[in-house]
Amino acid sequence: MKDDVRKYIYGAITVFIVGVLAWVSIVYISSCGVTLTCQRAVAKVDRTPIPTLFPATMPAAERFIPTPIAPPTLTVAEAEAESSSIPRPSNPGGPGEAVNLTGDAATGADLYAVNCVPCHGVEGVGGIANFGSTAGTVPALNPVDPRLKDPDYKTFATNLDLFLEHGSVPAGTNPIFQMPPWGSSGTFSQQQIADVIAYIISLNP
Ligand code: HEC
Repeated sequence: MKDDVRKYIYGAITVFIVGVLAWVSIVYISSCGVTLTCQRAVAKVDRTPIPTLFPATMPAAERFIPTPIAPPTLTVAEAEAESSSIPRPSNPGGPGEAVNLTGDAATGADLYAVNCVPCHGVEGVGGIANFGSTAGTVPALNPVDPRLKDPDYKTFATNLDLFLEHGSVPAGTNPIFQMPPWGSSGTFSQQQIADVIAYIISLNP
């Protein structure tokens, strides 16, 4: 009697274990096949007809493309006016009496050598650095800016005289050199200004 009960219990346990094993094997074999490595479980590689093709992307939608900001463009007339406008000193004022006097280029050369060479170079060839100015150098006077030149002597002299009379601060953040006012400060007499103008004009025939 006692043995029979034991037999039933062991029998039930055995049936249960065998059942579980059978169920696990059915699941395994149905998904992996009769193999120990279960290769079938590895995801299948889908080969594309053209293996080197990059995945295509759609072009970005219009609203994601920023509209380029067009730089302000000068009209042809404006650009011409800008390049042909005669340079004027930053300091205001009209021409001095010097433009009506006859200058002596030789005296002007002496005045130039003493007063102007440190900034404008020997004989006005320029090349002197002017840190902090937009131009980067003190302008040369030989050759002088062609826009200052004029076939009419008095017009040419007036263009130079405005700088000599009133001086000028060149464009830039903090230029170390600026053109001193030789006339309005009284450093030069009007005759001396006329002389130095005659000298510069003689350098720019
Ligand atoms: C301390 C330096 C300095 C001295 C000295 C000096 N200049 Fe200048 N000069 C300048 C600078 C800087 C400018 C540029 C001004 C500007 O761009 O507005 C200039 C501009 C000029 C210009 C206008 C040229 C141009 O292309 O715009 C003339 C002409 C001139 N100088 C003549 C003279 C003469 C002549 C002397 C001597 C009597 C003299 N300068 C002495 C610094 C100097």
